[in-house]
Amino acid sequence: MTSLYNKIAKLRAQIRYHNYMYYTLDSPVISDDIYDQLCTELIQLEKIYGIKNSFNKSNKLLQQIGGKKLNIFSECIHKTPMLSLKSTNNISDIKFFKQYIKKYIDNINDIKYYCDLKIDGLAVNLLYKNGLLISASTRGDGYVGEDITRNIYVISSIPKKLIGNNIPKVIEIRGEVFIKKSDFFTLNQLAISRNKKIFSNSRNAAAGSLRQLNPDIVKQRKLMFFVYGCGAFISDKKTYSHDERLTQIKKWGFSIHRDYLVCSATKDIIKFYNKIYYNRSKLDFEIDGIVIKIDSVVLQKKIGYAEKYPRWAIAVKFFSLDVETKIIDVSFQIGRTGIITPVAHFIPVNISGVIISKASLHNISMIKKLNICINDYVTVYRAGDVIPKIRNVLINKRDKLVKKIIFPLHCSSCNSLLLHSSNHISLYCPSSFLCPAQNLQRLIYFASKFGIYIKGLGKKNIIKLINHGYLFTPIDFFMLTVDKLQSIPGIGKKLSYKIINNISYSKNVRLDQFICSLGILDVGVSISKILANYYKSINSFLDTNFFILSGIKGIGVNISHSIIKFIKNKNNIDIILKLINILNIFHISE
Ligand code: IVH
Repeated sequence: MTSLYNKIAKLRAQIRYHNYMYYTLDSPVISDDIYDQLCTELIQLEKIYGIKNSFNKSNKLLQQIGGKKLNIFSECIHKTPMLSLKSTNNISDIKFFKQYIKKYIDNINDIKYYCDLKIDGLAVNLLYKNGLLISASTRGDGYVGEDITRNIYVISSIPKKLIGNNIPKVIEIRGEVFIKKSDFFTLNQLAISRNKKIFSNSRNAAAGSLRQLNPDIVKQRKLMFFVYGCGAFISDKKTYSHDERLTQIKKWGFSIHRDYLVCSATKDIIKFYNKIYYNRSKLDFEIDGIVIKIDSVVLQKKIGYAEKYPRWAIAVKFFSLDVETKIIDVSFQIGRTGIITPVAHFIPVNISGVIISKASLHNISMIKKLNICINDYVTVYRAGDVIPKIRNVLINKRDKLVKKIIFPLHCSSCNSLLLHSSNHISLYCPSSFLCPAQNLQRLIYFASKFGIYIKGLGKKNIIKLINHGYLFTPIDFFMLTVDKLQSIPGIGKKLSYKIINNISYSKNVRLDQFICSLGILDVGVSISKILANYYKSINSFLDTNFFILSGIKGIGVNISHSIIKFIKNKNNIDIILKLINILNIFHISE
């Protein structure tokens, strides 16, 4: 049960961090899909554990666990909530969507669907009363957004006054603000020439622009706006379909992208999806899929809403595009466990709005498998729409200029002879704490949440302590004093006392945490737990041998080799024995 609670706490912390990155800084580091997965997992675990749900009744998106808005703009309450969309990555899921709708209406045969582009911009709500733009706000948490009226005023594709007939008493126009690919490129070129930070994608550029305090700067950013729907709609003239509404909205002076389709047959929806999927690179703005909506407003009402999204719509998201580029170099990075990771550097490319210039090649075996050389042309993609990966080498384009990748013989940090890992897929540096590059990563890991967790001692301060000659091995954490810490620029008196206090707190450490903190190759959180449950004390763990280890359920031959290599290394064992004297290592059986 404790580990379940820890998992919940960890998930909440993760979501809090991503909420901060998304809502506060406009700089998401994970895709919406992965974010949704984290939320779903949290809801499930909270149910199992039977503790207070992180979502409130109206399902305000994890408000109490983060997602604060920067207090620059005032709040603006939406008249009707701005919900999210249920999404899938697979167009054939359309059949499940249809089955799902069948639960709410009897005859789905003649239903019309409105299919349009899922624009990858920033959702905005525009409130018009008697034809005049009254306020504009961001989506925020779906219920309350930020008032960005002043900035919206300078976007030329947004009318300040509706023109034409049948002007409604009240209407909330909903759509996406975005930057064209070409304008995004120019914006980043300008930032580079002025030595300023570039935007990682056009969505962040649009979001960052809308939150500018100076509307003149917003104007220069050339923001655009496409309508995709509406919220509150109070009018004497009734409209019965989404299509009818958008046609009317267009007549009032808004832009609606021409690529949309109203149809009934599944085959037509799939045709529309394919057409957009294969032609998306021709569009001068980013899209990340298509949206399929029930066209009839009456049926939309009948089918209704789930907590976070309307039941009458679904987004079908695209897989990341493959983009061609050229390998410029391959570098070899040394990690915490000594494993050498080859990294391919290529001519920077823009994949679904993000500029990427390198991708991990994981290990020597992958280099051989891909048959990759420097100067080769390759296709790259973003796995799960996030992590850059090399799909394959375009062997047909290979020319005489290609150079074979030479694997290093020695560690670039400590010059030790590199060895082959027991599974023969990687090279590693065996010098453990004696290798400066590896030692830095080891010390960071030792003090992190995966290790003994010394609050306040992160990467930045650890580097400073190493540079000041106060930190060589993990033992030195316990030799730190307030005076030593205070002598380091950026660590004041108050923080020094806090860190010293946290260091003494971290001396009480669970056996599994301690084993994990050592950074043994292939021994992470879960393997450390298996080992702690088996050996129950640090001394019996250190007394073990290969045969006992490899007989433990969950510990294979390779892991056993890594452990034996590590604990039979004289320098490592010296450090471990000194740590045992300093720490109070205890075990709680699970
Ligand atoms: S319909 C009730 N249509 O995608 C929700 N949304 O991931 C109705 N989006 O919050 C939304 N293009 O900001 C709809 N053609 C489109 C869209 C679209 C982009 C955004 C919208 C929504 C988000 C959900």
